[in-house]
Amino acid sequence: MSSQNLSLRLGVLISGSGSNLQALIDAIEDYQLPGVEIALVVSNIADAYGLQRALKHRLPAIYLPWGQPTVGTQFIAPEFIAPKSEMSESESRLTTLLHLFQVDLIVLAGWMRILSTAFLEQFPQRVINIHPALLPDNGTGNTFTTRNETQIPVFRGLHAVQQALDAGVKVTGSCVHFVTPEVDAGPVICREEVAIEEGDTEETLHERLKDVDERLKVVEHRLIVEAVGGLKVLNEPG
Ligand code: GRF
Repeated sequence: MSSQNLSLRLGVLISGSGSNLQALIDAIEDYQLPGVEIALVVSNIADAYGLQRALKHRLPAIYLPWGQPTVGTQFIAPEFIAPKSEMSESESRLTTLLHLFQVDLIVLAGWMRILSTAFLEQFPQRVINIHPALLPDNGTGNTFTTRNETQIPVFRGLHAVQQALDAGVKVTGSCVHFVTPEVDAGPVICREEVAIEEGDTEETLHERLKDVDERLKVVEHRLIVEAVGGLKVLNEPG
């Protein structure tokens, strides 16, 4: 945490629409997150709409081209990804920027790149992510027990919502968790369950996916604000 003003300075990393970034901006502007400020927004996509949102609110915003292939083209699961032990050139640049802007907490808000172990080791317990599925408290393991004591699989990676629908589970949800080298497998900060409606037989899978996606977005916008607010309080001197 910055020593001068006891603020919590966020570095928000985005790759797309930036609706979670917007949720943070709105919460800060509505005085829901006292002492929290957005120090820097970084996008690995030049025309990500989230960059426009940042600029509209006069936040420092940077496009940082990224070397490694986009994760959008592959299924990500911890067992498939061996996090690299060395930082890429892009990660070194990102590190420099985060230090330059005195970022205390890095928020992955729809950031579609995997960060290496070497990068993450620089910021222990300082990188958080939003994941649209239910993860167990410690983030690991392959089953999650819901509030009504039903065991469901843990869905990780880019297609977690689709996987939940394909598996026919009755409940999914969203989590904010600390980022560890294994993808979508870090300790959970906050979490909320979302029921998957039965839907009528006419409904296409695409429509159901859209519906669940939309309901999850509403939840995650609330969760990211709650998680940042909680971490701010934890960081305050006692
Ligand atoms: C969200 O759906 C989040 O669950 C996932 O990426 C998406 C980002 O959306 N990690 P946005 O760019 O914040 O609108």
